[in-house]
Amino acid sequence: MKPIEIKKGIHWVGAVDWNVRDFHGYFIPKGTTYNSFLVPDQKVALFDAVKAPFRNALLHNIRKIIEPRKIDYIVVNHVEMDHSGALPELIDQVQPEKIICSAMGKKALLQHFHREDWPYEVVETGQEISLGSKTIQFLETRMLHWPDSMMSYIKEDKLLISSDGFGQHWATSERFDDEVDLDQLFVHAAKYYANILLPFSPLVGKLIESVQKLGLEIDMIAPDHGLIWRQNPSKIVEAYGRWSRQETRKKALIIYNTMWRSTEKMAMAIADGLGQEGVEFKILNLNLNHRSDVMTEVLDAKALILGSSTLNNGIMPPMADMLCYMKGLKPLHKIGTAFGSYGWSGEAVKILTGALEEMKVDVADPGLRVQFAPTHEDLQKCIELGQKMGRLVKGNGG
Ligand code: FEO
Repeated sequence: MKPIEIKKGIHWVGAVDWNVRDFHGYFIPKGTTYNSFLVPDQKVALFDAVKAPFRNALLHNIRKIIEPRKIDYIVVNHVEMDHSGALPELIDQVQPEKIICSAMGKKALLQHFHREDWPYEVVETGQEISLGSKTIQFLETRMLHWPDSMMSYIKEDKLLISSDGFGQHWATSERFDDEVDLDQLFVHAAKYYANILLPFSPLVGKLIESVQKLGLEIDMIAPDHGLIWRQNPSKIVEAYGRWSRQETRKKALIIYNTMWRSTEKMAMAIADGLGQEGVEFKILNLNLNHRSDVMTEVLDAKALILGSSTLNNGIMPPMADMLCYMKGLKPLHKIGTAFGSYGWSGEAVKILTGALEEMKVDVADPGLRVQFAPTHEDLQKCIELGQKMGRLVKGNGG
């Protein structure tokens, strides 16, 4: 993918990874990009590198604009390996005057690459560095989503180079939001938020406040993954505001695993009850839906209705995987209940209810257990459970 001038004198020189599918447990069926930005001013700055296997693609793109040796500053907004993997070779070739990073960034670079001899320059929020005609202002975004994370703002261009923030895992031949389907782009951005940034939501709210306090006017947001927000920067900031407040819609999710389809029959009957109350719902069998797609649905759902058969005094393995993942991502403001079929011991509903409580979900009903296959009466109780949850989702009480 050739370089693209995203603003006058600012070039995208990153790499598109069409073939990656896993991002530490987050399924990215459309690949991703590692965005890197070159600013050849009086001082030449490169913002962020790429994943190690793409180091040559990055150097190749830089060479189309300038000899890599002419780069003075490498700005490391974030040390995670998808942006820093190419750094050792890049730094060997470039021999930059400064490697600019946050204090935590310096610590993380040392812990990753063990190079005391690199020319670190530590910056903090509000600090500025002039490149000649352009000024970079730094904004630390600690724990968004690593301790080292920061963003770089180029004042004269009103451009925010936002590291992982506002990104999406989507490999495309296009580079800008106005060149792709906006609805699809927001689905990818929501998935990114739900799977990476959700546990840090209070900090996202504070970040938006600090941007307002610093009076940063933003004309373009260039994240390190996916499309650049040229046309709709305010729309993605608004969406981040909504997601960070963990606002929910009148939507219920039935997330389940089934052994011999008895739990599935219960799931369908609960869905009937939700449908009778006119509530939007989704039925998510964990054998067919990846944990990261389920999390995207969880982002704005009001009700989590979890189902599992009992297996060896426990729950089904894909449900255990889902709960482990979901707990870490800390969704808030949900109501929930549990259901499941069992043979003789029947612990699943208790385990699921305990997991909901641990996630601070308001358990609205003790849930339903059915021994072996559900009877007509059992299914009727499932429908009633669905109706009750539907009324609660609508805010009309149980
Ligand atoms: Fe894209 Fe946190 O790395």
